Amino acid sequence: MGKLSGKKILIGITGSISAYKSVVLVRLLQKEGAIVKVVMTESSKEFVGELTFSTLCNSPVYSNLSQDNQWSNHVELGLWAELFLIAPASANTLAKMTHGLVDNLLTAIYLSAKCPIMVAPAMDLDMWNHKITQSNLQILQQIGIQIIPVGDGHLASGLSGPGRLAEPEEIVEIVKDFFIDSNLLSQKNILITAGPTYEAIDPVRFIGNRSSGKMGIRLAEEAVKLGAHVDLILGPSNESILSHSLLNVIRVESAQQMLDEVTKLQSKIDCFIFAAAVADYKVESPSQEKIKKTEINLDLHLTKNPDIALTIGKSKRSDQISVGFALETENLFENAKSKLDKKNMDFIVMNTPKVKNSAFGFDTNQISIYHKDGRILEFELKTKKEVAKDILHEIYQLQCR
Ligand code: CTP
Repeated sequence: MGKLSGKKILIGITGSISAYKSVVLVRLLQKEGAIVKVVMTESSKEFVGELTFSTLCNSPVYSNLSQDNQWSNHVELGLWAELFLIAPASANTLAKMTHGLVDNLLTAIYLSAKCPIMVAPAMDLDMWNHKITQSNLQILQQIGIQIIPVGDGHLASGLSGPGRLAEPEEIVEIVKDFFIDSNLLSQKNILITAGPTYEAIDPVRFIGNRSSGKMGIRLAEEAVKLGAHVDLILGPSNESILSHSLLNVIRVESAQQMLDEVTKLQSKIDCFIFAAAVADYKVESPSQEKIKKTEINLDLHLTKNPDIALTIGKSKRSDQISVGFALETENLFENAKSKLDKKNMDFIVMNTPKVKNSAFGFDTNQISIYHKDGRILEFELKTKKEVAKDILHEIYQLQCR
């Protein structure tokens, strides 16, 4: 049985000389067991025939928003597919995708699709290198679209360089990896706390900290890609978050609100990841009115906040995994080990702002993972997205034990 057995893949074909390679791509995907449907733009038909694809797929090729006075239901096609793979994706289509321009069936499906989307760009060297193309690709990547790297070599224009459509065999490998990954944590409920908490002093002032929420948000985004259902309990953070049908974001302000939301969901959760920088103290009696300036000093009496990780650690079932973070500036291992034990965690992720470009506020982080069985894993400085993948991989390994 092929690795893509029964997977429903919608292939989008746009105007590029490399559209002929899509014929091989469709065949290879089918050989792996995938069920393939094809949608073509008008200009792609100048390069390769509709009949080729309809014969290969034993199904009509979709290309118009209406056909024979009948409306083609782009929503249905987008819902049918488990993956929408646009290969080749021309510079023109990439630009339309970036700006949400819908002037054909392919872009209408793209805008209404609920499934993951991949693009395999193909164009001439100068178009590829143009700042606007690169910026479009960056935007598409930021909204969660996977970009398949282009090949480098001889181009139809006679020039040589980057811009070639990836080889069909390479695309199929990427698609196979995608389907393996997208099932890794399927059926799992993951809860992630992230960001800072704000503890009110009065209606306009608060005690907070410098956490950006980036690490927790990247964890949530990567976990849904692995098929998990994620509840992200997020303190005040300005970081943008990719939307995804498996991701539920719950906004909170204070530590108490964060704990309340975590407790509500506690029983259905398979894995807790405590990435929030929770304020340890709150103002005992926040003022209901804005505090006015006076000639004398102001004393704030602080009282301890609930410890969310500790509360869950004490009450969690043995089949529930708990993962925490330890941000330390000294005695890294001793401090992390004591938090791991005290809060009954399965492993703790250690990081320190003493490493350049690491921890609070940065897009990169250098972590070590300390398991409760004493194993310590050291990682290099990586983007928070890559760090998130490493952490989720450890969680996956624990689930398999
Ligand atoms: N944590 C939590 N609730 C708190 C404090 C911490 O859930 N009120 C979680 C953090 O999300 C993190 C772990 O506990 O996963 C360790 O947090 P950290 O602030 O490093 O440790 P503390 O126990 O607060 O100790 P200290 O601030 O003294 O280092």
